[in-house]
Amino acid sequence: MNPPALPTSPRLFIGLMSGTSLDGVDAVVVSQQGELVRQQGQYFVPYPADLKQSLLDLHTPAQHELHQAAVIANRLADLYAQAVNGILSASNLTAGEITAIGCHGQTVRHCPDLTAGQAYTLQLGNHARLAELTGITVVGDFRSRDIAAGGQGAPLVPAFHQAVFAAPDKHRVIVNIGGIANLSDLQVNGKVTGFDSGPGNLLMDAWTLQHTGNSYDASGAWAVRGELNPSLLQSLLSDPYFAQSIPKSTGRDLFNQKWLEQHLAMHSDTPQNIARTLLELTAVTIAQALQQYCPGAEEVYVCGGGAHNLALIDRLQALCGLSIQRTDVLGVDADWVEAVAFAWLAQRCIDHLPGNLPAVTGAAGPRILGAIYPG
Ligand SMILES: Nc1ncnc2c1ncn2[C@@H]1O[C@H](COP(=O)(O)OP(=O)(O)OP(=O)(O)O)[C@@H](O)[C@H]1O
Ligand SMILES: [Mg+2]
Repeated sequence: MNPPALPTSPRLFIGLMSGTSLDGVDAVVVSQQGELVRQQGQYFVPYPADLKQSLLDLHTPAQHELHQAAVIANRLADLYAQAVNGILSASNLTAGEITAIGCHGQTVRHCPDLTAGQAYTLQLGNHARLAELTGITVVGDFRSRDIAAGGQGAPLVPAFHQAVFAAPDKHRVIVNIGGIANLSDLQVNGKVTGFDSGPGNLLMDAWTLQHTGNSYDASGAWAVRGELNPSLLQSLLSDPYFAQSIPKSTGRDLFNQKWLEQHLAMHSDTPQNIARTLLELTAVTIAQALQQYCPGAEEVYVCGGGAHNLALIDRLQALCGLSIQRTDVLGVDADWVEAVAFAWLAQRCIDHLPGNLPAVTGAAGPRILGAIYPG
């Protein structure tokens, strides 16, 4: 069967991203015409504290987890629908004007490295319910097809980064600092690599919440007044993930509070010094990844909530010796890049076009990503 002919008039897609930070749902409306991708509006729905806790609990195997997962998937769909309604009214649009929603879902397990035949990734969200609640076609489950093709199922954003941020005369690197941090290396010859460098905000967030009651350390202001603990840093850096070669991806399955506590058991310090050391861990692992896998990079751009952590960006800048700018200067607001990427991936699926980059994920070839729930 031939793929449908590509339409030439602009179409509107909604992107919904709820990432590993478990902060909430980012929603964007994106207009797409050919290669042109333009964000038209944005809306954020924070996760209620009890939902965040239930999602954290689901990361650990427990009794009745299937029931819990299904009930939470319904609740997520309700929140996603709230985000869709919010953005439609904020943008003065109706459901009928939207071609499709790209909904990432909420990752509760990411296990791409299990032995052949066992690898899987699991993003919760009842897409049938979301289609029913909104009347809009939903594209979800973007990662499973790449894993079925032998890939990591992640990161998926490098293909989007290449489409909107690559330059023919500049070697650029895009660093997304969400719960986990990932890099896209966009070389001038069109070659792209991408992978997760390790923790972005998730360890800092958990530690900040535990010791200050805030869900994150605004601008890194608390951490930056602490002192770096070199032996703790070395211990954290000794995790084999950091030395593992690419392609690689990770999540809360590895980098979680239990992981941190194991290291802290041997290297205790004041909460603030530990916060400072966790900030350094994120900066050092991104900088080392840049050095190892992006040699010759000329420009570095950051996106994701971690771009607001000024102390982190300062450290990253010092460690990699390159000036760092937000993706805003390339035309996409750093806070919404991931959500725009999932609107773009929805369009790729609807148009029967591949969404993965085999060189990034390790998949056997390009694949059309996602499952479609008609509106
Ligand atoms: N002003 C700020 N100062 C420091 N950190 C901030 C600030 N604002 C947001 N953040 C951090 O950004 C996080 C949210 O980032 P983001 O939404 O990009 O991550 P995510 O949901 O994990 O997304 P993804 O998995 O798609 O990368 C917050 O949890 C917090 O750690
Ligand atoms: Mg988020």
